[in-house]
This record gives sequence, structure tokens and C-alpha cells, in this order.
Amino acid sequence: MAPRKIIIDTDPGQDDAVAILLALASPEDIEVLGITAVAGNVPLPLTEKNARIVCELAGKPETKVFAGCDAPMKRKLVTAEHVHGKTGLDGPQLADPTMPLQDQHAVDFIIETLRREPSRTVTLCPIGPLTNIAVAFERAPDIIERVQEIVLMGGAYFEVGNITPTAEFNIYVDPEAAKIVFAAGAPLVVMPLDVTHKALTTRNRIDAFRAMHTKVGDMVAAWTDFFERFDMEKYGSEGAPLHDPCTIAYLIEPQLFEGRHINVEIETDAELTFGMTVADWWRVTDRAANAMFMKDIDASGFYALLAARLARL
Ligand code: RIB
Ligand code: CA
Repeated sequence: MAPRKIIIDTDPGQDDAVAILLALASPEDIEVLGITAVAGNVPLPLTEKNARIVCELAGKPETKVFAGCDAPMKRKLVTAEHVHGKTGLDGPQLADPTMPLQDQHAVDFIIETLRREPSRTVTLCPIGPLTNIAVAFERAPDIIERVQEIVLMGGAYFEVGNITPTAEFNIYVDPEAAKIVFAAGAPLVVMPLDVTHKALTTRNRIDAFRAMHTKVGDMVAAWTDFFERFDMEKYGSEGAPLHDPCTIAYLIEPQLFEGRHINVEIETDAELTFGMTVADWWRVTDRAANAMFMKDIDASGFYALLAARLARL
């Protein structure tokens, strides 16, 4: 079967970096048409730079990286240096990238690509705030029906929030954008905290990356050592959730995940709960199902896939 053509929309972030590495290490399954950076974990100048650093680490400097929106649609940017560090890729000291940033704006690239490629052959993988995707849908509504699938990391239901008591970070940063994307009608797969918090970076899993004795393996282990400290302290867990690679793993081995096709709405007004993904898991409303909302993951299978693929780089 031909590899899935995807656009990764991202705010690197150590976990975003692992997602990008997994995609670039899997050419038989995935063709990365481009990587679009968005403001999120850290401001846009850093997320676009980090995306290029990761592409060079993967040995793929020909990958096209685009800078997108530097702020949410209607709100002030909230960042997450407390988790990812000042650079967004804290842990090891990294050299500046030499590969170029594309001149085209990320939103224009998304629109142009969806209009150019045959309809329903391009998958969007947003793993940061949904600003770029929502702006593209607002500016060019004709592209929505041309999207094959949106596979995003964001939201939470049983796991509740990680940036507020009720909201997950990617949705919280730009809830208006999330509302647009969740209501757009494109086929939608959601990897919420309910899944990602079951994919913890335990010691033996990270030791498998160190045991590769490769630059990529060492980097992933060093990034994890840095960014897991926040979640381990907060949750008292034996590792941190490796959020974003769940989206790419789904494209390669969907059987690793289980969920339900349900209605998911985004709260954008309430003061205490804005940014919440209101998931009708028990189908108690008559609201139409609009998302495959994942709940379970085969974590051992996920980490086995990650280790096997990243060892290729
Ligand atoms: O809440 C987790 C999400 O927020 C992940 O995408 C992480 O990279 C941050 O962007
Ligand atoms: Ca992210």
C-alpha cells in the first residue's frame, strides 16, 4: 500500500520531536509532505527552529518546514516552558539548524497542498494548538472535504486537564481554533490525555533508546530525562506521557489503539472550563458523533514500534 501523505503541524516540544522522528523513520508507511510550525509550547521562532533541528537530527534536511501562526486566533499565547524548558527542546545543547525555513506561510502551504493533491489523500497530524489548521479552514473552506483524516493529539475526558483542572494544553491555548476543527466535519481521530497518560516513559523503555548507541537514541533519552521531571513530580508516576508520537503510531499501527466514535465539543466561553473537550463518551446526548476519541493503548507495542523505527535513523 502506498505510504500515507501527511502534514505534521507542531510546536516542538520534546514529544513533538519524537513524533517527527517516528514519521521520518517510517517512509514505507508515511510520506511527510511538510512540517508546519505553530506557537505553543514555546513561541513560533523557537518551534520552527526546533522543527528544523529535528529534521536534521533525522538526517532529512530536505524536509520542508514552514512557519505558521505566532498566536492563537483570539487569545494571548500561553506557552509551556515549565515543561519543555526555555528553548522548547531543553536537555542536550543543540546546534542551530542549517537547513532553510520555507518562505511560504504554513497556512498557505496547507491550503495549497490540499488543493493540489488528489482529494482525500492528505492526512493532517496536528500535535500542538490548532491555530494553523483552523485559520486554513476559515480562509479556504473548500479544502475541508479534501482532507483524508485529521489525527490530532489533544483534549482529555477521564484524565481531565493538564494545564487547568479541565483543559489539555493544545486545546486550551486556542479553544476557538479547536472549536472550528472539531466542527469542520473532516474525519477526526483524537489522541487525548486518556491515551497518552498510559504511554509512560518508564526507565526500561528509555534505556532501550540509550542502548541503540546512536545520536537519535541518545537525544531521545536526554530529551525524556529533561521533560519527564515535570509530570513525574506532578503525578508521582514512573515516567512521563509521550503524547505526540501516539498520532504517528496510529497511522502505522492503528490496532495499538482503542476508542469510540462519539460527539466531542469544545468549551470556549465558560470561565472555569474553557478549553475543555466535552466528550459524550456515554452517549447521553443526541449530539452527532464527530470524532474517534481514543481511550486505550498497547503501550508495550507502542514503545516497541518506536524503538524499532528510531533505531533506523
Ligand atoms: O498536552 C500535551 C500537548 O501539549 C503535547 O502536544 C505537548 O507537546 C504540548 O504541546
Ligand atoms: Ca506538541
